[in-house]
Amino acid sequence: MRFLVVVLLFALAYAKHEKYEGWKSYYVGPASAEQLKNLGPILDQYSVDVLSHPIVQREGVVLVAPKHQAGFTKALEDLAIDYKVHAENVKAALDYDDTLIAAKKARDFTRNSGRNVPYDNYQTLDTIYAYLIDVAARFPNTVTLVNPANSFEGRPIYYLKISTTNFQDERKPVIFIDGCIHAREWISPPSVTWMIHKLTEDVTEPDLLENFDWIILPVVNPDGYAFTFSSDRFWRKTRSTDNHSLSGSCPGVDGNRNYDFFWGTVGTSNSPCEDTYGGSRAFSEVETRVVRDLLHEYLHRMALYLTMHSYGSMILYAWGHDGSLSHNAFALHTVGVNMATAIDAAKLPRFSNYTVGNSVLVLFYGASGASDDYAHLIGVPLSYTYELPGLQGGLQGFHLDPIYIEQVCRETWEGIIVGARRAGELFRR
Ligand code: ARG
Ligand code: ZN
Repeated sequence: MRFLVVVLLFALAYAKHEKYEGWKSYYVGPASAEQLKNLGPILDQYSVDVLSHPIVQREGVVLVAPKHQAGFTKALEDLAIDYKVHAENVKAALDYDDTLIAAKKARDFTRNSGRNVPYDNYQTLDTIYAYLIDVAARFPNTVTLVNPANSFEGRPIYYLKISTTNFQDERKPVIFIDGCIHAREWISPPSVTWMIHKLTEDVTEPDLLENFDWIILPVVNPDGYAFTFSSDRFWRKTRSTDNHSLSGSCPGVDGNRNYDFFWGTVGTSNSPCEDTYGGSRAFSEVETRVVRDLLHEYLHRMALYLTMHSYGSMILYAWGHDGSLSHNAFALHTVGVNMATAIDAAKLPRFSNYTVGNSVLVLFYGASGASDDYAHLIGVPLSYTYELPGLQGGLQGFHLDPIYIEQVCRETWEGIIVGARRAGELFRR
């Protein structure tokens, strides 16, 4: 019997990451703006999946299918772009990640019964949702749990409203933070639930709780997130299907290409089989409509919108389609730098400093239909994409090792403290 269980577990584990057998991942380190610019077309040509975007003199991590590895590395060599193998076999690296998570889970099992989210591991959607429900029950005077709509597959899309005045004081600025529109970016949900922790269970900055109304939505894309646990660790999109002829075999829309901001024009695909498929129309996804409706509902007093992604240690702002700057670029940049400076002061030495800037000028690629740009377009004065830290050279797996989750949560909170206070000052002017 036990043997059978072991065999079955093994077979399951094997089947789980099978898709990535023979795939390799590479660190790619462009040394100049010129090399970074040349890299773009190569990534497209070889259908490379970018997990962490390289910037000048900061390597990124990319996944390459077996059939493209020779062509991809040859193209890099022709342009003298530095690269090295990160994982010889992506499937094996994923299996390794699973052992780290399983080991942690075994140790946690006795300590945790859904009452809190432990930050020494990645959590399933069910655990995160149990935590949201529990926090709302334990802090009824400040926390309200809302389920505005269900996802394409029928999961709740929960958010919390946190306020000492039940959102009734119209003079208070609103701060809206979301996470995990991209399913595989696993460091995003804990960074967002930590903010809930700091506004309820462990209030060390009472001014932040007192002076602001908070909307916190840890998992915008619950279907995709669940799918990264059950089936495909590198799933990025939602899980919806539409009327496109390829949609049945290739479900899912890139939520961060689905907003009505130059929708369907730059850095996005009209094929459902691509990771950057923008959908059949702007706001085709119920998940992005939930975020859109929250932005509009509180727009008149929204001072700050943050959307948490990974990886890269970057704080990015508008405009993300063409690299032009908004009327509020000066404030966007200075508040961005203030947040980054606070995080850098709290981070571990082995992690990179944050880079702050217009997303096209930092990343060298444009992307339309993103939530940061949409929020700014409709009038949120300060709107940013955070690319949280992760995947530094030498780490073996694809998650940020779980031992760093809490550190990232703590240091990111330092950025939120500064960002909220600065946003509050600007709002009151
Ligand atoms: N990695 C993010 C994405 O590709 C970056 C988005 C930056 N913002 C933007 N408007 N392009 O979705
Ligand atoms: Zn992302």
